[in-house]
Amino acid sequence: MTARRVVLLGEEVLRIPTAKIKGFGEETQGLIEDLFDTMYHAGGIGIAAPQIGVSLRICVIDLGRAEDLEESQRLTLINPAIVESSKTKEKATEGCLSIPGMEEIVKRPSQIKVRAQDELGNPIELEAEGLLSRVIQHEVDHLDGILFFDRVTPLKRRLLLNKWRNSQKEGSSQ
Ligand code: NI
Repeated sequence: MTARRVVLLGEEVLRIPTAKIKGFGEETQGLIEDLFDTMYHAGGIGIAAPQIGVSLRICVIDLGRAEDLEESQRLTLINPAIVESSKTKEKATEGCLSIPGMEEIVKRPSQIKVRAQDELGNPIELEAEGLLSRVIQHEVDHLDGILFFDRVTPLKRRLLLNKWRNSQKEGSSQ
């Protein structure tokens, strides 16, 4: 159980579609713990394996912090697939642990249905709306090599990328 380094925008692993998880033994269990540890350490509410440098189809979510709940609400999605998306869309501000300091409004389907496997490999199906729907879509995008930057207009993307490059230059001189 270790909080690992979060991979940042510009590193190739974030852009590679992930491979399916086939085993549910110690290695996968260790990966799940590392994902949660890294996410809590970084103060996020969701994280996908490529963000810790592992190109496998798994992400974890815990909205406890965002919703100010005392108890954690751990959700592990292995090999997730979004099988239905509502036509109705919603706009909300998103950020990403791999692009710290950057936020932008992203439009996404309001409701989704997801099929996945839990940490033991059992099939699960869930319907989500609101914040959970958004976080799942954001994390599943990561598993396909897609970042929230890709979901905004080209102009906004260019502005965000400039802002990001400047912030990285400032960071490296410290
Ligand atoms: Ni992200």
